[in-house]
Parts: sequence; C-alpha cells; structure tokens
Amino acid sequence: ILALGTAALIGYLLGSLSGSLVLGRLRGVDIRAMGSGNAGGTNALRTLGWRFALAVIIIDLGKGALAALVAPWLVAGLLPTAVAPLTLAAVAGFCAVLGHVWPLYFGFSGGKGAGTAVGAIAVLAPWCILPLLLVWIVTIVGTGYVGLATILAGIALVPAMWLLGPDPLPPVLGALAVILAVTLIFTHRSNLARLRDGSENRFDQALLLKR
Ligand code: G3P
Repeated sequence: ILALGTAALIGYLLGSLSGSLVLGRLRGVDIRAMGSGNAGGTNALRTLGWRFALAVIIIDLGKGALAALVAPWLVAGLLPTAVAPLTLAAVAGFCAVLGHVWPLYFGFSGGKGAGTAVGAIAVLAPWCILPLLLVWIVTIVGTGYVGLATILAGIALVPAMWLLGPDPLPPVLGALAVILAVTLIFTHRSNLARLRDGSENRFDQALLLKR
C-alpha cells in the first residue's frame, strides 16, 4: 500500500504541473479564461499560437512519460517493495492524468488529461500509440473536432492495448486502458454536450477532406 501510495503521489505531483497553466502564469495569462476554457494543448493552439501550444504539449506528454518512468525507480529506492515496477508505473501514469485534470498547484481546475495519458502509454505500451494517432488524425481531418477525436482515440486505446500491448497482456495494463478510456470520456463531457447542441469548437483549417 505504501509503495502504491508513493507511486500515486509522485504521479499526482508531476501531473499537477500543467504545461499551459505553468507557462501561462509565466506569461501572465490564464488559459482557463480563454477559448474553450480548457487547460490543454488544443486550447493553447486555439488561443495562444503554435509555439506556446507545442511547449504545452511537450510538458504535458513529458510529465506523463516521466511519471511512468521514474516512479518505479524512486519507489524502489525509497522503500523495499514487492510490488511489480509495471504496476507502480501504471499507477503513477494514471495519477499524473488525475493531477493534470485536478492540479494541486492550480486550484484543482486543469485540463482533460489526453496528452498526459499519451505520455504514460508511450512508456508502458509504445505500439498502442500508432492506432490512437491514426484514429485521432483521421477524425480531426474528417470532422475538425479535436475533442471528438480525443474521445474516439481514448476508446480505441482499449482494443489497441489488447492487440498491440505486451503479449500476454498484464492485467494492470488492460485495467489502465479501460480506466483511461473512461476518464477521457468523463473529462470530455463538456465537448460531448457541445457536440450535441452543435456549438463545439471546430478547427476548420483541419478539414482537408472538405476542400
Ligand atoms: O484534450 C483536449 C482536446 O481533446 C479538446 O480540447 O479545448 O477543444 O476542449 P478543447
């Protein structure tokens, strides 16, 4: 329990370092009052330009990856534990997503966790990223809706993990895929509501197929 709790804390503290909120504070802006109000890479691109968005995405992906990478190593250094490193990494990766969504340092109001989840998955099951990226890009190009693309990629994580994750699939990775998919649907509920009433933000310049 102590080892799992420590991994969770490491993940949560790292995840709370929200790229758009940290960089926004340095620049004196709060992205939560701009565009869709979301503290994430998409809204950074929408409101603050591609350079800012790129930096946000690097931080948000990086902290998810870092959590999964360093947590097993740090926990093993701090306390003797019989918990498998993969389990510690998965717990830390998931808690980094929770930290991004409810950041400790920013009033528990953060982003939707997609970039951070991708960072953790890239470390835990790298091949899964390819189909997710494909689903994401095809949806954006076909519809212009990034939120919808992220929801569909989140759902695709479950079969992707099943098919392209380690064989045999460790139960902890199967569980992580399902929990992340549910979390992403939950954090994108405002996008789902906007899609239903037709007010979801659309990147029209992404609609290459309709030109
Ligand atoms: O991960 C966030 C993205 O999927 C949607 O962002 O700003 O359109 O709500 P946004």
